[in-house]
Amino acid sequence: METVNVNGIQLAFERHGKGTPLVLLHGFPLDHHLWDEVVPLLEDRFDVILPDLRGFGDSTTVDSPYSMDDYASDIAGLLDQIDIQKAAIVGHSMGGYVALAFARLYPERVSGLGLVSSQLPADAPERKEGRYKSAADVSANGIGSVVETMTPKFTSAEKLQALARASMERQPPAGYIGALKAMAERMDSTALLSSLKVPVVVIHGDTDALIPIDRAREVKATLPEAHLIEIPGAGHIPMLEAVKETAEALRKLA
Ligand code: MLT
Repeated sequence: METVNVNGIQLAFERHGKGTPLVLLHGFPLDHHLWDEVVPLLEDRFDVILPDLRGFGDSTTVDSPYSMDDYASDIAGLLDQIDIQKAAIVGHSMGGYVALAFARLYPERVSGLGLVSSQLPADAPERKEGRYKSAADVSANGIGSVVETMTPKFTSAEKLQALARASMERQPPAGYIGALKAMAERMDSTALLSSLKVPVVVIHGDTDALIPIDRAREVKATLPEAHLIEIPGAGHIPMLEAVKETAEALRKLA
């Protein structure tokens, strides 16, 4: 992996292919390998940039609190350093929250937006409280209970559950804690979405047990021009459960 120094941290990323710049942001608590299967189906049309968000993968962990805007600012800094002014920004789940923050902070740098298994609203108060409890639990006892709770919710496919579990187990506790707090404090992005003037692609599995398909339908209701691709039988990780359909949908951002 390559690394750049942004906002005082080492941000690791991979880059494959040639064409329209396309940033693929992983979700919680994973890293860029989430996208490994779709990249070969995109690299003929896209310059695919795959960062590890701060606190995950090979990027530096940060102990002081940070926000979705900080993750987005890291991505802007990365793009500056590799001389990319504008890119299609796609995020999976929490990565979608980062993509939305990026679109709010740097609208002129977004050529298209993709939300995969993600959503627009901020956390309801009880969800927010749950995030802080999880963060305290990770701090006291490690990542074990988050991994156990999330694994079966990613997908019903056992092989892919094992893959998601292995990926979650590779991530440092500080990354979990930072992300849980950042997710708890994120803004509602409904108004932002209606203001976007770029192509928007929404990809969602209809059996997602972490973020229900209704959240994707709400995106379409907010922005009728958005392309909504519902993937029958897929759960929370369509880029692994339905590789071709996911890649095909993302190609609308070329
Ligand atoms: C994710 O997959 O990134 C998270 O489950 C998103 C969330 O908890 O809101």
